[in-house]
Amino acid sequence: MGREKDANLLKVEKVVEPKPLCGDGARFDDYESLYAESLKSREKFWEKLASELHWFKRWERVWNGKFKGARWFEGGKTNVCYNCLDRNLKRGLRNKVAIIYANEREEERKLTYGELHELVGRLASGLKRLGVRKGDRVLIYMPNTPEAAAAMLACARIGAVHSVVFAGFSREALKVRIGDAEPKVVITATYTVRRGKKVDLLSTAREAVKDFPFVEKLVVWDRDGEEKLGPAEVEFYDLVAENREVAPAEEMDAEDPLFILYTSGTTGKPKGVLHTTGGYMVGVYATTGWDFNLKDDDVYWCTADVGWITGHSYIVYGPLLNGITTVMYEGAPNYPDPGIWWRLVERYRVNVFYTAPTAVRLFMRYGEDYPRRYDLSSLRVIGSVGEPINPEAWEWYYRVIGGEKCPVVDTWWQTETGMHVILTWPHTKAKPGYAGRPFFTVEVDVVDKEGNPLPPNRVGYLVIKTPWPAMFRTVWKNPERYDRYWEVVKGYYCPEDLATKDEEGFIAILGRADDVLNVAGHRIGTAEVESALLEHPAVAEAAVIGKPDEIKGERIKAFVVLKVGYEPSEKLAEEIRRTVREVLGPIAVPEELEFVEKLPKTRSGKIMRRLLRARELGQEVGDLSTLED
Ligand code: WT7
Repeated sequence: MGREKDANLLKVEKVVEPKPLCGDGARFDDYESLYAESLKSREKFWEKLASELHWFKRWERVWNGKFKGARWFEGGKTNVCYNCLDRNLKRGLRNKVAIIYANEREEERKLTYGELHELVGRLASGLKRLGVRKGDRVLIYMPNTPEAAAAMLACARIGAVHSVVFAGFSREALKVRIGDAEPKVVITATYTVRRGKKVDLLSTAREAVKDFPFVEKLVVWDRDGEEKLGPAEVEFYDLVAENREVAPAEEMDAEDPLFILYTSGTTGKPKGVLHTTGGYMVGVYATTGWDFNLKDDDVYWCTADVGWITGHSYIVYGPLLNGITTVMYEGAPNYPDPGIWWRLVERYRVNVFYTAPTAVRLFMRYGEDYPRRYDLSSLRVIGSVGEPINPEAWEWYYRVIGGEKCPVVDTWWQTETGMHVILTWPHTKAKPGYAGRPFFTVEVDVVDKEGNPLPPNRVGYLVIKTPWPAMFRTVWKNPERYDRYWEVVKGYYCPEDLATKDEEGFIAILGRADDVLNVAGHRIGTAEVESALLEHPAVAEAAVIGKPDEIKGERIKAFVVLKVGYEPSEKLAEEIRRTVREVLGPIAVPEELEFVEKLPKTRSGKIMRRLLRARELGQEVGDLSTLED
């Protein structure tokens, strides 16, 4: 556990304690006592929240008593899409704006709950007509637009299991996910926009489905209406137009699968994290409402992409379950200029703004001038997610964006947890550099490898000790990888993050304990990048490490051993990097690439990335007894 010396870790000594931010219609003002209360009546706590939503049939038991293998609200029948849309229509929200879409060119579209219901219901009918049945998988490879949200909701409506793949991933990454999820239908668009350019999605999707006979149809949102579609392809809005019926919401068992979302691990193959219906729904409904102290008329903007878990839980499902207005933005944060986001906050009077530290650090670099040009006074709560927010970025975000009046709600969680688990509650004091304290009913700790709790301020493994409803249920087609989460530290769920806990129970996250990088808030496995590098014919061996980066948190450095007959050159390095871009996507491209004669390995042939890291960062190397050469 030598990583506490790493240069990219937070300096957690600097602790600022702003005044508690109470009042203003806070949902509660005494976190400690409510938390203590919730530990005594975990099931009652969740049952009350579940009761606020619609169930076709009430559950028989709240929780099955297990942690690994937990099941929630068994016997209950519900539908997540019904709760996002139909329930809100019944509450009188038909004409309220559900989604505001905006992009770099400041084009906007607004969909009311009524309009979204119509779109989703007809698309759901269309999918049924294409043969999609309950339990079938549908893969969604779409830009961050209402059409993507509609596709997810349409699947949920008819009980199809969606698997969204981030539109920034390219051919091979998409293929691996299609091959694993085996979708009957793939939904895509002709392109997405970024930095004024159209990024082609359709060619990538066509290429990716080619070898998979189980993909029966490709649904294509033809954004400019000029594409010639093939016999196995159907246009998104044609499908909507041809199906006038709003499909009824399927009565789903609480434990029926809702979606699969792939995330990186320590092997080259991504893990299909499986979430189910009832528990996930209740978990994201509750955390969106409580953690941002939502009010009914809030305009809420989470700047993530639907391709990640943050987009699933906190752009689409959480906000819509709460019946608020959610903003979806397609494009880069600093294009056409670094004022675009603040212009949109002003225009839409955004109340809750939720972004990533990497974006905050990017804006810091452009200076205070841009945000100062706009009226950000509508903001009430500002959130952070994806990686630790360093105290400098915290201070800037709090002062410049939040105007020293908005609590900074840091939220620690994972694709697997489905919902926030640790957070800086908006009504309590905050400690910049610390993620905060657990959500109600959930117990967390920092322990050693044997599971012994560590004294305050010592670095150890973060563990979650008790279940929560939105936790993932398994890894798709790979139960052994599900088991692994309970095997790192016996008896507990181990997210493989290193952490410390202070005397007051505030948790600071220090980074990953495994070979997984966090680049601009995105989880990327070193093994995945290494296997992408190996796709280039000149590459014999490759190793990848993360290096501290001022804006991205970590950036990727690759060490490459060439095959005999190839000579290192700048041109070859560029070609190899291009291969990674084509295979995995731009987010996985190593910024640095160094040709080496050989790689340090253990006796068993495992690459010692730790050694490469230490050498690269000028640190001590530690125990080398397992090193072969
Ligand atoms: C990993 C999960 C959760 C949505 C985005 C990423 C890191 C996430 C924080 C935070 C410190 C964080 C952890 C975690 N992480 N949020 N607020 N403070 N670290 O989801 O791709 O599943 O990655 O991201 O290392 O394990 P993900």
